[in-house]
Amino acid sequence: MRRAFGASLPTDEELAVSREITEFDRTLAFFDGPEIVATAGIFSYEMTVPGGTLPCGGVTRVSVLSTHRRRGLLTAMMRRQLDDMHERGEPLAALYASEAPIYGRFGYGLATYQAAVEVDRSHAGFAKALTGSGRLAMVDVPTAVGAFTRIWEQARRDQPGMLRLDERWIRSELADLELHREGASPHYRVLYQIDDNPSGFAVYRIKLAWDASGPNGVLRLEMLVATSPEAYAALWRHLLDVDLMARVSAEMRPVDEPLRFLLADSRQPKTRIEDGLWVRLVDVPTALAGRRYAAEGRLGLRVRDAFCPWNDGHFELNGGPHTAECRRHDGNPDLAIDVADLAAVYLGGNRFRTLMEAGRVEELQPGAVARADAMFATNRAPWCPSHF
Ligand SMILES: CC(C)(COP(=O)(O)OP(=O)(O)OC[C@H]1O[C@@H](n2cnc3c(N)ncnc32)[C@H](O)[C@@H]1OP(=O)(O)O)[C@@H](O)C(=O)NCCC(=O)NCCS
Repeated sequence: MRRAFGASLPTDEELAVSREITEFDRTLAFFDGPEIVATAGIFSYEMTVPGGTLPCGGVTRVSVLSTHRRRGLLTAMMRRQLDDMHERGEPLAALYASEAPIYGRFGYGLATYQAAVEVDRSHAGFAKALTGSGRLAMVDVPTAVGAFTRIWEQARRDQPGMLRLDERWIRSELADLELHREGASPHYRVLYQIDDNPSGFAVYRIKLAWDASGPNGVLRLEMLVATSPEAYAALWRHLLDVDLMARVSAEMRPVDEPLRFLLADSRQPKTRIEDGLWVRLVDVPTALAGRRYAAEGRLGLRVRDAFCPWNDGHFELNGGPHTAECRRHDGNPDLAIDVADLAAVYLGGNRFRTLMEAGRVEELQPGAVARADAMFATNRAPWCPSHF
């Protein structure tokens, strides 16, 4: 895999960190003689969907050596993985794509976005003074693993797109490998607590630089997760107050980051929107029945799925804030949609209307698109803050 991505071979330390999270019984390799020429893997995750959680296969480490490309090896691995997830009853799959055109043909749709942000520290004052009784502390790795896992567990419950990360995963996130430093410092791990109750954390690095006008450093935020607005504001204030930094930058932030509204200068943070998770509904009726809907409603969906024919057909969804059911149906459908586009709207990150205006959703009964959008709406943009 490292060769296919043009990276150097892994060190013993990198292999040890990787071994902790690898599921060998879900790891695939293609051999040409004794040589591995293609790889793929799956992590057994649980994903938060609107109103609940569902098992989700996190597809990862997909690579084909350049000598063996365009012969169908990726297609064969995708086939094997989706059959495996289907047999296990894992209704969702998700991945990060190296290139956007690769995975649509296998039924993956762009379901979450993420923001790359940068705040100029000379414009980083808050509109209102901070209130709050919590305190910040730098913590060591063992303390961080316990506290950050608890915070993550609480935060993920009402954040669609977030994956369950146990202590093993948080330890791997905090491994602080040289590979990830790119000339910056080791990790700083900051915990925010109120009365000994952990309610937010941030992990960052700093990179010092000097020019003719003085210090010109960059603080690179890697993770900030909070379970209360107070913890969120205190952590951002801390990041924006670190001395000798000219800028704070972060990737993989939520697109509805409240920071803009904490700052007095709402032209900050400078933001670039990028693609986040590509999601696949491995089992359409289970996935649709496994989330909750903002408005009570009924929808007849004609789903097209060429790669996983068990999903192809007409389904009736009856859903609302408290219950949802989805089953095969013979009546007249309201909408026709490809399975990848259904995945794109599934977590609430896109609208049916947008896809209709791009010619991807067909409204077969008047008003169906508006009803679908009212049902699928979420109060937070879906966000996946962890990479895999
Ligand atoms: C992307 C990659 C895995 C594709 O593997 P592959 O074995 O060549 O793919 P396949 O032969 O099964 O191709 C299946 C189809 O997808 C298309 N396809 C594959 N890679 C594509 C790409 N990068 N962009 C657009 N189309 C692509 C193929 O042309 C083929 O289409 P066709 O059936 O119409 O001819 C491989 O090129 C690779 O390892 N790239 C570098 C690492 C990487 O980007 N990995 C993905 C990590 S998310």
